[in-house]
Amino acid sequence: MNSTPITGLILIVDDTPTNLDVISEALVNAGHNVAIATSGERALQQVERRQPDLILLDVMMPGIDGFETCKRLKANAKTRDIPVMFMTAVADLDNKVKGLKLGAVDYITKPFQEEEVLTRVKTHLQLYFLTQNLEQQVEQKTAALQAAQLQIIQREKLSALGNLVAGIAHEIANPVGFLSGNIQPALDYIKDLFGLLDLVQKESSNFSPAIEKEIEAIDLEFIRKDLPQLVGSMKEGVNRIKDISNSLRIFARADSISPIACNIHDGIDSTIMILKHRLKASDTHPDIQIIKDYGDLPLVECYAGQLNQVFMNLLANAIDALEEANIGRSYAEIQSNPNQIIIKTELSEDRQRVIICFKDNGMGMIESVKQNIFDHLFTTKAVGKGTGLGLAIARQIIEEKHGGTIHADSTFGVGTEFTIAIPIKEAI
Ligand SMILES: Nc1ncnc2c1ncn2[C@@H]1O[C@H](COP(=O)(O)OP(=O)(O)O)[C@@H](O)[C@H]1O
Ligand SMILES: [Mg+2]
Repeated sequence: MNSTPITGLILIVDDTPTNLDVISEALVNAGHNVAIATSGERALQQVERRQPDLILLDVMMPGIDGFETCKRLKANAKTRDIPVMFMTAVADLDNKVKGLKLGAVDYITKPFQEEEVLTRVKTHLQLYFLTQNLEQQVEQKTAALQAAQLQIIQREKLSALGNLVAGIAHEIANPVGFLSGNIQPALDYIKDLFGLLDLVQKESSNFSPAIEKEIEAIDLEFIRKDLPQLVGSMKEGVNRIKDISNSLRIFARADSISPIACNIHDGIDSTIMILKHRLKASDTHPDIQIIKDYGDLPLVECYAGQLNQVFMNLLANAIDALEEANIGRSYAEIQSNPNQIIIKTELSEDRQRVIICFKDNGMGMIESVKQNIFDHLFTTKAVGKGTGLGLAIARQIIEEKHGGTIHADSTFGVGTEFTIAIPIKEAI
């Protein structure tokens, strides 16, 4: 414990002016602030307005006496925790006990022994302050613990999901491989077969009526045109599945214990691919344009899976902000000022860091929101839509895992820009 003098605001409640004078003078001289009430009722009114750190309470007073005053103080949640000390006559053992039973912390006896009063007052103030401090600390620690717990759960979920996605992407890769590997030969065979058919048709000018009838029934001319197109579109579809499964694999890349050299652009592209369904046009708005302005970046030592998580959180927020800005705007209005997310990457001037910007022309934020966005659990979104963890996790990944920085610029009604800087070699 330190030796700085402990002072506080002490309320003295007594109906005898001489008592008040003696004790308040002693307390003021010791550096305390003193407030005075000459009856129990007044004391109760005063504590409502301004909370003292300690109350010295006379027992015998006209109106409600000290015991009743103490009872009421203890019954009120606002004043319950303020320590109360009774002032009693020396010989009055009954009252001392009664006071303590009512919740008083101590008593001092009249006539006052100044040293004793000051010591007891100091002790109880000290206890009171320590308790308050402890409660505050417990509250803070509990909040921090809850936030950390939530973050762990979120991370666990993501990592489980990541494993699942990586597993599925891996499983899809084989069958997609068969398909894409066999479509071209199938197309070649089809071409060969039709070539043969052409030859047969050319060499024998007269088919039997049965053959002629069948040619007509199956509409051979149509098949000849349509079959290659049909298989061609299958090829297109298979290629798309291949892209998606590739993106999933890149996105959900399991992170190793140490960072590895990665292509940042691959990570961003795979994230865009995964969010593609949220970029598409709907009845109410045209599609969200993604404008890439990629610089020439070297490979960066990083935890790619986690960085992709950051890209995902930033892009998802930008899409949310655009959707919110679209509320109340007509299709034509949006079309004239289209929803855009610009993603720009470049090397810093000293070539030691990569800079990645995500800029949207969505809702933007007011200053008071902007100041809190990186806090755990801070969200302006409806329950179930926002968790308030996205940016807290993003900041942790960028700052703690990669030794980088992340900050936001935003103008309400205009848009928001997040800028990330990651040192090229310094991932921790
Ligand atoms: N691009 C953005 N434009 C406008 N506001 C944003 C943007 N990104 C984040 N915010 C604000 O920051 C808050 C916190 O974001 P985040 O931590 O991702 O949690 P959540 O998205 O679950 O609300 C959001 O609720 C939103 O108010
Ligand atoms: Mg978010």
